Amino acid sequence: MDIKEVMAARHSVRQYKSEDISDEERIILDEYVRKLNEESGLHIQIIYNETECFMSRMAKYGKFEGVENYICMVGKKADKDLEEKCGYYGELLVLKAQEMGLNTCWVGLTHGTTRSEVEKDEKEVIVISLGYGKTQGVPHKSKSLYKLSNLTEYSPEWFEEGMKAVELAPTAINQQKFFFECLDNNRVSARAVGFAAYTKVDLGIAKAHFELGAGKENFTWA
Ligand SMILES: Cc1cc2nc3c(=O)[nH]c(=O)nc-3n(C[C@H](O)[C@H](O)[C@H](O)COP(=O)(O)O)c2cc1C
Repeated sequence: MDIKEVMAARHSVRQYKSEDISDEERIILDEYVRKLNEESGLHIQIIYNETECFMSRMAKYGKFEGVENYICMVGKKADKDLEEKCGYYGELLVLKAQEMGLNTCWVGLTHGTTRSEVEKDEKEVIVISLGYGKTQGVPHKSKSLYKLSNLTEYSPEWFEEGMKAVELAPTAINQQKFFFECLDNNRVSARAVGFAAYTKVDLGIAKAHFELGAGKENFTWA
C-alpha cells in the first residue's frame, strides 16, 4: 500500500477486538515514537494493555469498546504551536499504525484519565485509541475541495493531489474548519477558520495529509 492508499483506508474505529499488539509491533511503534519525539520535542507516549481509561462513562457515551491501548499526545505548555504539532505528529503515527494493519480514533473528549506521564511544564493535548478494530470504519462526508481551498482548474496538479489528501483527514466532529491557499512561487498557506474546539489540532492533521499528497518537494509553507 502506498501512503495515499493508507490515507484512504483510514477511518475512525471505536470498537476493538481483544487482540494484543505483538512485541514485534510494539518495537516498531515505539521506535517510531522515539523518532517523532526527537524531531518534534513532543513527549508522545503509547500506553499498552490499559483498559480503565476507556471504561469511563464518557468513553461509553462515545461508543468506545474494547480499547486496550492508546497514544497520549503530550508536549510543553510553553510551545505556542503545541496543538498543531500534536495534530501533525499524531497523524503521522496514526498512518503508521494503519499501514501496520492497526486501527485508531482521535479522542478529544470521550475518554477517562490516562496513564501518561505529564511533567509540570507539560500538557496532555489529546489521546488516540489504538488496536485491531472490529471493523475498518466508514469514509466520512467531506466539504467540497473548492470550499476548503482556492483550488481551480488552473491549479498545479500537486496542489490538487494535496487537497485530495486533506479531504481524507480526520477532524473533530468532522468539522473541516480550515482553508488552504495556493500562492505564487509554489507557496501554500493553511489556516484554521473560526474558533471551534480542536481547530489547531485539526489543522496539524490536515497539513500532514497535504504534505503526503502534494509531495514536500513540490512546495513550501508560506
Ligand atoms: C481533534 C479530534 C478530536 C476528536 N475527538 C473525538 C471524540 O472525543 N470522540 C469521538 O468519538 N471521536 C472523536 N474524533 C473523531 C472524529 O469524529 C472523526 O475523525 C471524524 O468524524 C471523521 O471521521 P473519520 O476519522 O472516520 O474520517 C476526533 C477527531 C479529531 C481529529
